[in-house]
Amino acid sequence: MPETPTTPKHIAIIMDGNGRWAKERGLPRREGHRAGAESVRECVEACKQLGIGYLTLYAFSSENWNRPAAEITALMALLERFLDQKADEMMKQDVRLQAIGHIERLPEKTRKKLRTAIERTANNKSLTLVLALSYGSREEITEAARSLVKDASEGRLTAADVTKELFASRLYTHDIPDPDLMIRTSGEMRVSNFLLWQISYAELVIFKKFWPDFGQSDLFEAVEEYSRRHRRFGGL
Ligand code: IPE
Ligand code: IPE
Ligand code: MG
Repeated sequence: MPETPTTPKHIAIIMDGNGRWAKERGLPRREGHRAGAESVRECVEACKQLGIGYLTLYAFSSENWNRPAAEITALMALLERFLDQKADEMMKQDVRLQAIGHIERLPEKTRKKLRTAIERTANNKSLTLVLALSYGSREEITEAARSLVKDASEGRLTAADVTKELFASRLYTHDIPDPDLMIRTSGEMRVSNFLLWQISYAELVIFKKFWPDFGQSDLFEAVEEYSRRHRRFGGL
């Protein structure tokens, strides 16, 4: 059934281009990541202003574990700093933090800070900020299939019970609506193993600029572009 587009309920962002932003300035890649954290703050603020319910940010992919150890360490340190510094602000802004991905793979210290921030903000209501960390869509889908097979082999379900709703209920995003709008920065036309199941009918908006240059006005622009789209969901 076609739907008149209004404001998206859920925006997902592939925050790409931190390294190139830094390189352009003759800075180390970690400086690009540091600058990118500021864009996160701007986007949270913009989503709050627009009354958007969910913002999912691709912060670290399963494949990003293949990067040099020093870059991974810098990214984890940055995430820890973000969690330490932003928890108060999230409380003030009524933002609830959640995480999706293979969280067990994160260093213990990072995981602990993440858990603390998630628990502290659990009752906040205005905006749910979902961080995709050590996230890979194929891993997520594989895990869902594995949990269904396990239930079947232990006699809890049959092949006929497996519907798309049941499958979706086994994904990390089981309690999060599908994104309506997906944004990627740095001009790459690919989805890089991000929310493959969930973005089936999302509208895509690609920005040429690098993530550290992305701000509130860009998010507003993406939402405006979304509102001009005609979502058809396969109908007329
Ligand atoms: C995005 O920027 C941040 C992460 C993937 C962690 P990149 O680090 O991918 O920057 P580019 O794409 O190499 O410029
Ligand atoms: C996607 O960016 C992952 C994140 C933004 C965290 P990448 O830079 O890792 O993706 P590719 O390598 O360009 O596909
Ligand atoms: Mg990249």
